[in-house]
Amino acid sequence: VKKIKVATIIGTRPEVIKMAPVIRKLALSERFTSLVCFSGQHRDLANETMQVFAIEPTHNLNLMTPSQGLDALSSLILSHVSNFLGSTQPDLVLVHGDTTTAYMAALASFYAGIPVGHVEAGLRTHNLANPFPEELNRQAIARIARYNFAPTALAKANLVAEGVKESSIYITGNTVVDSMNFLVRTVRSDSKENSDRKKKLKSELGFDYETDSFALLTSHRRESLDGEMEQCFEQVVKLASCHESLRIVFPVHPNPKVQSLALRVFGRNNQVHLIAPLDYVEFLILLDSCEFVITDSGGIQEEAVSLGLHVLVTRDETERPEGLQAGLLRLVGNSGSNLLSAAEAMFDAEARRAKSTFTTGDLRVSPYGDGMAADRILDILIDSRP
Ligand code: UD1
Ligand code: UDP
Repeated sequence: VKKIKVATIIGTRPEVIKMAPVIRKLALSERFTSLVCFSGQHRDLANETMQVFAIEPTHNLNLMTPSQGLDALSSLILSHVSNFLGSTQPDLVLVHGDTTTAYMAALASFYAGIPVGHVEAGLRTHNLANPFPEELNRQAIARIARYNFAPTALAKANLVAEGVKESSIYITGNTVVDSMNFLVRTVRSDSKENSDRKKKLKSELGFDYETDSFALLTSHRRESLDGEMEQCFEQVVKLASCHESLRIVFPVHPNPKVQSLALRVFGRNNQVHLIAPLDYVEFLILLDSCEFVITDSGGIQEEAVSLGLHVLVTRDETERPEGLQAGLLRLVGNSGSNLLSAAEAMFDAEARRAKSTFTTGDLRVSPYGDGMAADRILDILIDSRP
């Protein structure tokens, strides 16, 4: 039988992490010819992550510029991906989630008449301003996609409510659980490589994360950069001053605006440890050891909940309500206005962690997926032959 030529188009760290299981399986299967086109929307963050999964793009568009604007980035991706599609003529394009790379790659495929499969389809806040521009990106991709791979039943319901054809929607679970399962043995191994990695982490942090408790903080959303992120960081400072023994580890996103703000607010705070972004294995090691998480990240909400951790979500809304239902996510606002009260409620409820159905290590019972998403996606493509 003729092989199906699939082009997976990725550009940022989370797309690499969540497409890695699909890319690895496509490469191993005899039914597919697999192309991997990397837009380069992110450089260091994505390259480091591709190394973790031993992924080498077949095409690298190398498009990142410092402090890139959405207009210039979008037009560059649209035109370069169009050229890529023109020269390679895949049978199907796969995109992930809601980034500028995903939306522009889907649009280029639509213009070229090539069907699109959307992995992580159907996540919604229904508010175009939050997250911006991601909510528009994912809604627009749903108009284009021939295959909508929804991670959960709720995501499917969102698509159905928008009039997306039910025959195009498949519930697969979120591929992030596949990725975590793929790495969990590495993260917890006693190998020499891992103990070297842990030593390096401890010296970077300046304390022993295996014995001393700490919270993990990340922040990067565009819609918060004009003020709310600063207010939120100030709430974090207050939280730290109310709990003198609390350490907070913050791997700072390379976005220059986030970097300068983090330095300004936390630079002299000896409870907040600012460090460079971690590679995915190192990040999972810290996530596996931390007490709780403070984040505006999408992927980290899923990963933390999959490990049974409580998360203070520094956003007004989340497109991942499964973790709210599980009692592990708490929305504290883009400006962190409810951070202190939610933290107190969380500390009171901390005993629940042990009782939670999602115990550390048992990722198969995550509300976001069961670790089989990539297998399902490949099976659907083989059965339906795009
Ligand atoms: C993008 C995605 C967001 C995703 C996030 C993951 C869009 C609109 N946003 O947001 O959905 O949650 O990635 O991190 O697609 N930079 C570097 N090196 C890197 C990466 C970024 O220096 O490896 C700096 C550059 O100056 C770049 C800036 O960060 O211009 C912003 O990157 P960009 O991808 O435009 O936006 P994010 O905020 O990272
Ligand atoms: N991550 C990482 N190193 C870090 C911070 C995050 O590997 O220092 C991973 C994290 O585990 C998650 C992903 O990057 O899988 C999330 O990326 P980000 O928060 O940038 O994007 P989002 O998920 O919000 O789109």
